[in-house]
Parts: sequence; structure tokens; C-alpha cells
Amino acid sequence: MPNLQQRLAELREQINFHNYRYNVLDDPVISDAEYDRLMIELRQIEAAHPEWITPDSPTQRVGGQLSERFAKVTHPAPILSLANAFNGDDVRDWFTRTSKLFPADRQISFTVEPKIDGLTVVLHYREGVFIQGATRGDGRIGEDITPNLRTVKGVPLKIPVTQKKAKSKVAVPATFVVRGEAFITTQDFEAMNQQIEAKGGKTFANPRNAAAGFLRQLDSRVTASRPISLLCYAVVNADGTTPRSQWELLNYLREVGLPVTQAAKRFDSLDKAIAYCETWIDRRDEFLFEADGMVIKIDDLDLQAELGIVGKDPRGAIALKFPAREATTQLLNVGVNIGRTGIMAPYAILEPVNVGGVTIERATLHNFDDIARKDIRIGDRVIVKRSGDVIPYIAGPVVALRSGQEKTIEPPRNCPFCDTPTIRRAGEVAIYCPNRDCPGRLDRAVQFFVSKGAMDIDGLGEKIASRLIETGLVEDVADIYSITRDQLLELEGFAEKKADKLLQSIEASKERPLSRVIIASGIPHVGYVAAETLAKHFRSLDKFMQADEDELTQIDGIGTTIATSIVDWTHRKEHIDLIKKLRKSGITIVFDEDESPHSNEKLAGKTFVITGTLSKPRDEIAASIKSAGGKVIDSVSKKTDYVVVGETPGSKFARAQQLGITILDEAALSRLLRS
Ligand code: IVH
Repeated sequence: MPNLQQRLAELREQINFHNYRYNVLDDPVISDAEYDRLMIELRQIEAAHPEWITPDSPTQRVGGQLSERFAKVTHPAPILSLANAFNGDDVRDWFTRTSKLFPADRQISFTVEPKIDGLTVVLHYREGVFIQGATRGDGRIGEDITPNLRTVKGVPLKIPVTQKKAKSKVAVPATFVVRGEAFITTQDFEAMNQQIEAKGGKTFANPRNAAAGFLRQLDSRVTASRPISLLCYAVVNADGTTPRSQWELLNYLREVGLPVTQAAKRFDSLDKAIAYCETWIDRRDEFLFEADGMVIKIDDLDLQAELGIVGKDPRGAIALKFPAREATTQLLNVGVNIGRTGIMAPYAILEPVNVGGVTIERATLHNFDDIARKDIRIGDRVIVKRSGDVIPYIAGPVVALRSGQEKTIEPPRNCPFCDTPTIRRAGEVAIYCPNRDCPGRLDRAVQFFVSKGAMDIDGLGEKIASRLIETGLVEDVADIYSITRDQLLELEGFAEKKADKLLQSIEASKERPLSRVIIASGIPHVGYVAAETLAKHFRSLDKFMQADEDELTQIDGIGTTIATSIVDWTHRKEHIDLIKKLRKSGITIVFDEDESPHSNEKLAGKTFVITGTLSKPRDEIAASIKSAGGKVIDSVSKKTDYVVVGETPGSKFARAQQLGITILDEAALSRLLRS
């Protein structure tokens, strides 16, 4: 089978290269998920052909050479890695294999912990004093990064840390070596990148790379200025007794003063342990750090030791990985979208790539400044990220894989829709098309105007909107109201029934309440919550159009950003004319009493916050809450009554949990509405 052997050699070579990039250079060129796939393929071939396994296969040894910059530290015991599982069945298979090695009637408990995506560190204590700290290196020999680790606040320089109130002091063995993970919290990471961005510097692609870079600094003052955290989870060596169960060990480490995760749990069955891991898949953003999975460990540490290792992985523990949120792929081209305000939004056209089960072909590139700062070029291999409820975006290029043929990306000098020269306003990063009649801009404005949460004109989809603009029938949104039946019938694809239906929905939209008209106007920063507040306050479009900034900022819930944006919009002649035109076309802009809650409604006085992706647009969900008298607000506070949570909720969900607010999923909300 020469082909399979060829593939085996190829895989080994590739994996060795990626180990080197990851372990030595701290600059991986593929994602963890892609690396895992290579390893799986290699393991599969070796499992089918054990005769081909060589001692230098990456499955048999820990990858990574050592950098020459640091002194070497021989670890007192091998710093092992972990085998990966990608679903519950993989974990069950692991345990079926493992349980053959001990008597069937042995009772097994499992301790489950988050798998922190950081950098392994080995901390040496002598008589309770921190004397040395090392990286993992190749698992046998690590690098001495003691001065850097001394600057990390989570590393106690002396243990046990005696607490004033503690009655008994927990002793630590004279020689005591612990293992932990050093990392940067997501929050610290984002703040740090924002600072770097503000100064125009190059941001870090992920917290792991940043943490690794800081810990392997030659100047420890640099490390000291960086927010590195630590969590410990194992004892590597001790010349005295330490607990013989992982669960008790974690408690012991915490008691002596070492930082330990709060999210660990012990279970008496594997299914319960797996179920616990699975509860974290959708909640992974609640960890303060980047977690790439959960680790399931046989709780009995003596049994773990008896089970030994296979390759570089202990048999007694396994990592259940979360679905990947990052992948690398090729940037084929850059497209430009235009917003209704004229902002040009660049997006990446990608070689399709699977990220955590979803195929991604487009990703946002934010703005042209961001592209320049990250130095993203067409033809680059780029890191695509997708997490929580954010749109997929490009974290950065993999510079090491450049061929030299890549093309830099220039902001368009002319609008791709109307060819008008683009402009950039002082102090703003965005590039605009200044042409108010730009068909690209109008297209978006019409789409927004007719959308469900705005004027809700059914039957006027994207294609029809574009056709109405192309044929000149619609030159501004108010023109929608003067389209005739004959004009529609002349358009391709319009039979009588379809035309009548559309005309009916246009007619019906004339009676939308004031808040909808405010939303439909598309004033930047005015979403549905603000629009309703404004409608309730002014109760008339004329009063709203005449309001000044002072009056606006006095309204509860309207800040200066919204107020400035409103005044800027309502004072422009073309907008005043547009509103006049809308009125003339017969739309009856009235304040609808339904816009304020009635006391006899079942949800009267109750406040709701919506987070995550739901099966219907948020506006629709909000409308159903409001029709039952409830109020929908943007941020969670102690006063919030309910938080409606969809898929991949963000920080609002975490906050709601912290505050103990009632959480509703969509089904529970429906029940509440029906009750
Ligand atoms: S246990 C025998 N527990 O994940 C001990 N590892 O992919 C084996 N990691 O190299 C490791 N969090 O650096 C363990 N709670 C945790 C962990 C953890 C992160 C890292 C560790 C290891 C890597 C394996």
C-alpha cells in the first residue's frame, strides 16, 4: 500500500512542522481543529498498521523542539498531553477501552474541569517558596521562565497562603511541583487589543498566542505589564503526601493558596460527566478564559497512575473538545457592501471552510483601516473566527504562508454602485458614498423600510426592491406608495394576483404606528427600543421632528449619541421633504395606544431582555411581548423580570444568571404569553 505509506510520511512531516510552529515559534499556521484532524488521520493509519509505528512518529512523542533562548529545565515527571474526544460517543469508547484494564466491579468517579486554552506552566516550590517556573517544552525538558512567572499575580510566591481566619494551616511537601495553565482572560484580551488598536499597533489573533508571547519574553518587565492569569490542576511531583483523588486535589491546591477553577465537578457516572461537559458547549463564553473543551479525569489518581500512558497521553483522562470556532482558509477576494447611510463595508470572499459545523464563504472585514492594520491581502491564508452571536470575521493573515503573490487591498476610490468618488469624514474610519441617490444606498434603505420590524410590507423582497429601483419607479422610500397596478404588471414576473397582493400590503402599511415609522426612517442608532420610547414621549411625528438635543437627552433611555444622530437626521432638508412626501401619500402616522402597556394586560409592567439567536426576528418576539403589555429593554439589570435566551447568547445571559433573573427559552416565553 504505497499510497497509504506515502500519506503516513506526509502526515508525520506536516504534524512535525505544525508542532514546531506551535511549540517553538508560538505562531501556528493552522487551527487547532485542523491539527486535530491531521493527528486523527495519522492515528487511524497507525491503528490499522501498527507495524508502521516508529518511535519518532508524532503519536509516540511530544512534539516541539526547544528554543535556544532560555535555560533548560528537566521536568521531575513527564508533562503529558491529553487525548481528544469530539463527542460523547468518543468519550464512551475511551472508557470502554480503559475499563478493560481494571476489574469490572470497580466503582469509578470522574472529575470534570474546563480545558483552558493557554500555556502549560510547571511551578516548583521548595519549602513553600516559589523557586522555579518552566514551560512544557517537549514534555520532558521545558524552558526556564522563572523571572516572567514571578510577575504573574496568580502565582503565589509562598505557600501555603495563610488566611487570617483559617484555623489550621495546610502543609505542603518540602518539594512540591504543580502544573497549571497560564492564560489571558477574554476580557483582558479584548481590552488589550483595543488599546493596541487605538495606538494603531498590530493586535493579537487570540489570547493563547498573546499569553505565550508574553511568557516567553526575555525581558520580564514586559511580562509584568501584561494581564496573565493562572489556574492549577495537577501535582507533578511531591516528596510528601497529597490527596489521591483529583477532586480532593483541586480543593487542596485551592486551600494552600493556588488558583483553581470554580467550574470543576465530580460525578459518579460517565454519562453524567458527559452531560455536564455538554451543558458548557453553548455557555463556553461564560468562562472568563478561552476554553477549547472540558477534561474528564478518572478521579482516583492511583488508578490513573496504574493505567499509564499511551503515546504522550495518560489513559486516565480525556479532553472532550468543543466545536471549533476558528479555521484557516484562503481569501479569494474582497467585496463591498453599502449601507443605507452610504457606509462601505468590506467583506471577505473565502474558499468555503467549515467552522464548527457551519460552512463559511463570507466574513466581515469591518472597515478598510482594520484591513490595513491587520495587513490582510487578497490570496492570503486567513484565520476565520466565528463565536457566539457575532458574524464570522477575519482575525488576521497567516503571514508565514505567503507566496509573495498576494495583493494589498485598497479602499475603493469610487462607489462600486454609482461611481461617485468616495469620501472619508474627519475622525471616522468609515468610507462613504456621498451620493444620496446612489442606487446601492437606496436599495438598502428600501429593504430596511419594508422589513418586518419597520413598515412590514409583505411581498416586497430584495429582488423586487432592486427591480423597482432599476426601472426608476422608486427613487426614495416614499415612492413605494405611488406605485400603480399597471406599473407592477409591466414588471417581469408580476401577474395580477401577485401585484394585487403587494398593493394590498402597501396599503395596509399606511396605518403602522408612529414607532414603526420612526424605525423605518433608518436614523442611525435608533433601534426599536429607542423608537418606542420616542413614540411614547412625543406621540406625534411633527413634535418628534422638531425636538432639539436637550429635550431628547432628557428622555429616559435616550443618550447623547442617539440624540445627536436624531437631530442630525431631522434637520436635513431631504428628510423633512421625505416625511412630507410620506404624509402626502396617505400614510397616517399616529400614536397608537397599543404602544404603551395597559395595566390589565398579563405582562403589564414586566421588563424583558432578549439575547441570542431565536427562531424569529427579535422585532417579532419583542412585538409579541409588547402586545401582552410587557416592555423590552436592551440591557440586563436587577430590575429586569425576564431574559429571553436564544441560541449562542452573549454576556447578557451570563449577567442574568449572576443576578438570578428568570431565564426563558422560546418555548417558555410562548407558554407565558399563552398563560
Ligand atoms: S490535564 C495528566 N487539565 O490541555 C494531565 N490539562 O491538550 C494532563 N489543559 O497540555 C493534562 N486545561 O496544557 C489538564 N484542566 C486541565 C487543562 C489541561 C488545559 C491543557 C494542558 C494540556 C492540554 C492538552
